[in-house]
Amino acid sequence: MGVSQQQIPGTGTPLVERMANVTQTPLNPGDSPLVREALSSVVSRETPAATQPAAAQPGGTGSEGDGSWPRPAKCRVIAVANQKGGVGKTTTSVNIAAALSMHGQRVLVVDLDPQGNASTALATEHRGDVPDVYQVLVDDLPMADIVKQVPEMPNLYCAPATIDLAGAEIELVSLVAREARLRRALAAYEEVEFDYIIIDCPPSLGLLTVNALVAADEVMIPIQCEYYALEGLGQLLRNVDLIKAHLNPTLRLSTIVLTMYDGRTRLASQVADEVRSHFGDTVLRTVIPRSVRLSEAPSYGQSVMTYDPGSSGAMAYMDAAREIAHRAIVA
Ligand SMILES: Nc1ncnc2c1ncn2[C@@H]1O[C@H](COP(=O)(O)OP(=O)(O)OP(=O)(O)O)[C@@H](O)[C@H]1O
Ligand SMILES: [Mg+2]
Repeated sequence: MGVSQQQIPGTGTPLVERMANVTQTPLNPGDSPLVREALSSVVSRETPAATQPAAAQPGGTGSEGDGSWPRPAKCRVIAVANQKGGVGKTTTSVNIAAALSMHGQRVLVVDLDPQGNASTALATEHRGDVPDVYQVLVDDLPMADIVKQVPEMPNLYCAPATIDLAGAEIELVSLVAREARLRRALAAYEEVEFDYIIIDCPPSLGLLTVNALVAADEVMIPIQCEYYALEGLGQLLRNVDLIKAHLNPTLRLSTIVLTMYDGRTRLASQVADEVRSHFGDTVLRTVIPRSVRLSEAPSYGQSVMTYDPGSSGAMAYMDAAREIAHRAIVA
């Protein structure tokens, strides 16, 4: 039995019901009891380091005072990429997106991985013949036909991926403008004015990831604080440079986030030091710790922000999202 059919203990609402109840609720974070409760819990436990003042973006509005973060002058499209598997791409995409949405940002998560993990974590149906990113990329279906609002998260939307997307890597090869199909679909999507579009990439450097990098302004790379963490990073960075040179001149590596940090091991701090010495301020000050709550949340169809807002993982992702929201864009 799939997770979407189970009544999962402790959730109150079965996941399948949560998926069915996708309604257009007003775009105000305060309107969702789940968000309200989560925010009060996280805000009351925010770490002092996280509230250090940072330069607001030019043209941004809003402030910490009213619970909202500065909105970017134009939509920031961020590809979360690393061809290494299991480094925290999806966990980072989903939780950063949820945190931003809870602070007044309108956020779309594009699930570009046939595994559909981001769709699962955001309680967005992605099985059977649900229209998905595959149809947008291959069949030219408008983005508006697949995007769903995430249940109980008024500012958060998801473009789901079904297993069909696995075929896209091959089918895209013969299509016109195969590298720019996501970019084109997002450009034509005007129904909702987003502040952030976060693209969760698959663990490969194939055409799906290329589509993400061509559609994005920024690349965010999660790096797991483990041995071999930097393996393959050079190849990813070369790909980013190639795409910048030939397909998307405005692309930039804006953010590196250190994930699954285990403070008890010397190795984790060595990896973190090494990454910081290479990449300097591109690396978020906030480090994401290992937290079992982060791995539990998706099976409840939730981000950790609502599943356990007081957990170390939720607080870290909230801090990381705040850093991202306050970072000025330097072209
Ligand atoms: N900080 C963390 N603490 C504990 N578990 C984590 C953490 N971050 C991620 N995980 C777990 O590690 C696994 C891999 O994480 P995730 O799915 O986010 O990685 P990924 O890079 O998206 O993987 P893939 O390459 O398969 O898409 C998942 O089971 C997730 O729940
Ligand atoms: Mg993933």
